[in-house]
Amino acid sequence: MKMSAELTTRRHDSVHMRRQRDALLDVYREVYADRLANPFFTVERFWQRLEAYAARDGFSLVTGHVGDVLVGYTLGHTLPPDARWWNGFRGEIDHSLLDEDGRRTFAVNELMVLPEFRRRGYAHALHNALLHDRPEERATLLVRPDNIPARTAYLNWGWYKLGDLQPFDDAPVYEALIVKLNG
Ligand SMILES: CC(C)(COP(=O)(O)OP(=O)(O)OC[C@H]1O[C@@H](n2cnc3c(N)ncnc32)[C@H](O)[C@@H]1OP(=O)(O)O)[C@@H](O)C(=O)NCCC(=O)NCCS
Repeated sequence: MKMSAELTTRRHDSVHMRRQRDALLDVYREVYADRLANPFFTVERFWQRLEAYAARDGFSLVTGHVGDVLVGYTLGHTLPPDARWWNGFRGEIDHSLLDEDGRRTFAVNELMVLPEFRRRGYAHALHNALLHDRPEERATLLVRPDNIPARTAYLNWGWYKLGDLQPFDDAPVYEALIVKLNG
């Protein structure tokens, strides 16, 4: 358990994730209220995705609490050797950068903080708690280029853009960001 100002962070495995289902979904509902009508972003589909991530090797969830209020969380997993993560990648790079061996890369799947608790460094604290002792050499995440708060934060926290990525044909085009882990 770690403290940052009045934020407490806690790390969880998949079993603990499932025990907190209702609280995690309440935060999701509030953070993504404007998207819930989109079939891809319903609460049920979101939970299915979390269950799929939780079944992966290296899964970790970090929750942030102020008093007894769950104010945000972040989670991710290790990319498997046959990862589809890099499918739809666009960009001129050395393609060996997209090779996965099951140990190389940690994928951050979610990071969210309730609106009323933003701009207090809580997302940064959650991010650091999730990544600080990972065994992988690097981490990756996908961000929408128009998500100014998140994109600004990641670039300030040392992430850089590898290229654009469209995971499937009717998906938005994301920016694939990467950061080196543990020195
Ligand atoms: C992105 C998000 C997690 C940031 O949470 P947060 O707790 O406010 O972030 P922090 O306080 O730790 O860090 C904020 C940093 O992000 C950047 N940032 C945050 N909001 C910003 C905004 N509206 N405009 C520009 N930069 C912003 C700044 O660099 C800021 O640092 P500063 O406050 O020292 O200037 C939050 O806005 C959120 O939950 N958004 C919706 C979910 C989402 O989009 N998640 C990311 C998916 S890839």
